[in-house]
Amino acid sequence: MSKKKKDKDKKAGKAAARDLEIVRPAQRWDFAVPDGPPSPPPGPTFNLNAELTDCANAIQLGLASLLSDIPGASERLTDAMRHGALNGGKRIRPFLVRLTAQMFGESPLRSRALQLGVELIHCYSLIHDDLPAMDNDDLRRGRPTVHKAYDEATAILAGDALLAHAFHWLATRIGFSAETNNRILGELAEAAGPSGMVGGQMRDMEAEANEETSLDDIALMMNLKTGRLIRASVRVGAIYGGADDESLEAVTRYAEIAGAVFQMADDLLDFTADTATLGKTAGKDEAAGKQTLVSRLGVKTAQKRMDELVEQAIAALSRFGPEADGLRATVRYFAARPN
Ligand code: IPE
Ligand code: IPE
Ligand code: MG
Ligand code: MG
Ligand code: MG
Repeated sequence: MSKKKKDKDKKAGKAAARDLEIVRPAQRWDFAVPDGPPSPPPGPTFNLNAELTDCANAIQLGLASLLSDIPGASERLTDAMRHGALNGGKRIRPFLVRLTAQMFGESPLRSRALQLGVELIHCYSLIHDDLPAMDNDDLRRGRPTVHKAYDEATAILAGDALLAHAFHWLATRIGFSAETNNRILGELAEAAGPSGMVGGQMRDMEAEANEETSLDDIALMMNLKTGRLIRASVRVGAIYGGADDESLEAVTRYAEIAGAVFQMADDLLDFTADTATLGKTAGKDEAAGKQTLVSRLGVKTAQKRMDELVEQAIAALSRFGPEADGLRATVRYFAARPN
């Protein structure tokens, strides 16, 4: 990255960090479809921007309510949890829960408790990912990271608290049969833990600045640190909606590929986007010696590979009709998103 671009990014980052009240407009999800082979548009009835906006608004309201008056939690802890959660994320994991539950007949409202629990787990992961001992980031979703706005100990505890709060919330609110509840809780716990996100985060740390890391190791790391929670979001939505085994299998395959697309886009954006658009400091991966498919294959090849994966994810949904248009549009959005 040129020095001029870096300086510009730094300036934009500082300006964004100063503005603690940044509200993300609905147009945040408007995105340009990239050049390349034309793909069939999402079904005529599905409006991705409108659905994403509706979901993000509902999640913001729901989180604001479930992160107020937490019995026993000090004001500082509650504020730090709120800072980490109520700050304009894209809410794509709740969106996946909502879409899959809807595909199998459950309304967005009925799956909302589940959507909120999944987003709480994700918000915890971001707070810890940004810590000085991890990625050491100052900016997240256009605002100072939790350890910057508070302090490191508070950020660690706010992350721990969001994770435990998520499972408490889910255990008491999913509101299905005990068997389905247990299955959903098990899926999410596994996806968040050592065989999932935390396992992937450890691999990410171990790979940092290690150019011996193989492409297979990088793919596994991406799959665990990001892919598992995306996979679990799709699966728990489908389980909640009562999907049969074959349908669950098909959406799982979709989610595994879509998770890889999502992280590849994240890695590409770190190289290609600017800090103001990203809401996090651009160019950090290269500076930290992060091992990604982008750092190893180059932007062009990684982009091409990602576009192929989008088509594979859509192909995994071939058994479904227009009810899967939301998922089809979503994986295209994962690849084309601006941030
Ligand atoms: C960022 O996730 C971390 C990754 C797993 C790549 P998102 O891009 O979903 O972040 P928010 O929630 O929209 O801020
Ligand atoms: C984070 O991956 C994955 C998580 C589990 C949070 P990154 O470290 O690339 O995510 P960003 O770029 O900081 O959002
Ligand atoms: Mg990281
Ligand atoms: Mg990071
Ligand atoms: Mg990243």
